[in-house]
Amino acid sequence: METTTKGGTTAGTLLLALSLLAGCGEGGAYDAAMTVPGGDPEAGHFLVRAHGCGACHRIDGVRGPDANVGPPLNALSSQVYIAGVLPNLPENMVRWLMDPPAIDPRTAMPDLGLSEREATDIAAFLYSLEGG
Ligand code: HEC
Repeated sequence: METTTKGGTTAGTLLLALSLLAGCGEGGAYDAAMTVPGGDPEAGHFLVRAHGCGACHRIDGVRGPDANVGPPLNALSSQVYIAGVLPNLPENMVRWLMDPPAIDPRTAMPDLGLSEREATDIAAFLYSLEGG
């Protein structure tokens, strides 16, 4: 957790290999869709704290003011839509995180200037949350 980039590639590759394996199993399509190729959930956890997402969202494992400016982000892997406008797929989650107003000009969530790399890791972290 201290180092965010070291080993990221290896972990990402392993995750990808695992998700491909899982995809071969019975009815694994939905689960496979919720893994983010190349995303590192540990780095994502760090980035969510570093970018202050907890100032507006309740997120498991992220300390914050218990804010409800945006919705809680603990059950995203079982949600059908992102922000009510985008089908909940990993590539859409990355797009949303990189620039919410580009997707929905009226949204209250600001563009936080995330790179694609950061958004990918954050998406991987958010999908790893179990709900609640
Ligand atoms: C200034 C407050 C604010 C900050 C900071 C913020 N968000 Fe949001 N976020 C919102 C609001 C408000 C919405 C609801 C948007 C909508 O429905 O149009 C939202 C929606 C979302 C959604 C879609 C949730 C759903 O249930 O569909 C995700 C995912 C998300 N934010 C992730 C993040 C992440 C990750 C960060 C940090 C990088 C972050 N947000 C920072 C206010 C914020």
